[in-house]
Amino acid sequence: MSTLLHIDSSVRAATNPNPDHDSISKNIARRFIDTWKQNRPEDEYIYRDVGVSPPAFITQDWIGAVFTPEDKRTPAQQETLALSDTLIAEVSAADVILISSPMYNYGMPAQLKAWFDQIVRIDKTFDFDLARGDFPLQSLLSGKTLIIVTSSGEFGFEKGGIREASGHLVPHLRTLSKYLGVDTIYEIAAEYQEFGDERHRISVANAKDRAEGLASELSLSAQASLSKTEVTNV
Ligand SMILES: Cc1cc2nc3c(=O)[nH]c(=O)nc-3n(C[C@H](O)[C@H](O)[C@H](O)COP(=O)(O)O)c2cc1C
Repeated sequence: MSTLLHIDSSVRAATNPNPDHDSISKNIARRFIDTWKQNRPEDEYIYRDVGVSPPAFITQDWIGAVFTPEDKRTPAQQETLALSDTLIAEVSAADVILISSPMYNYGMPAQLKAWFDQIVRIDKTFDFDLARGDFPLQSLLSGKTLIIVTSSGEFGFEKGGIREASGHLVPHLRTLSKYLGVDTIYEIAAEYQEFGDERHRISVANAKDRAEGLASELSLSAQASLSKTEVTNV
């Protein structure tokens, strides 16, 4: 059995009275999840919509609690870190993480950044040792696969694209993914939403197809490696 962690972050709902308002990134992600669940119904599934229910921003008290040794924390400090503890436990439990994100102002929504700020935490998801020279931070988690689903109004944010220099969403997610323990990343992008033309229609259709194809591929290969482990353990 694997654990699939699904984080949506658009402030738009997946389904609205006016379908033109439906979140594109959530619907692409949903295609991935539906296919995965069909192939592996026994898997654990954890879902958070941080766009609709954003995690709290971190505060000075939060930082103070983080840097207080665990056995010295007051009940109030434990309470301050309770959400962070829960979110980190969800990431730790996950084998596969799907993050869907709209592009807002050329980067991720503040709500998704708030989720990362709660999770990237010293001695929980990374440790710090100056003996490592210029790279003192080291991730404490590993072995996870990340699927990044994005939707943008403009286009050409990829490497070599006409807006590569403004594309801060996927590069930021890639940088932070290290602290989720991610070794393997897949990207699915829908573009052109603001143009509302044929390019947009094709881009969304391709992204949904890719989400379904990737979910089949990964869920079946997860099945195969699980069966191999079961055989080895007999
Ligand atoms: C507040 C806001 C900021 C946006 N900023 C950008 C942007 O910087 N670049 C871009 O290409 N599209 C931008 N867009 C368009 C969204 O990326 C696009 O509508 C996308 O489909 C939203 O994701 P969703 O459909 O999952 O809600 C922005 C939209 C909103 C609402």
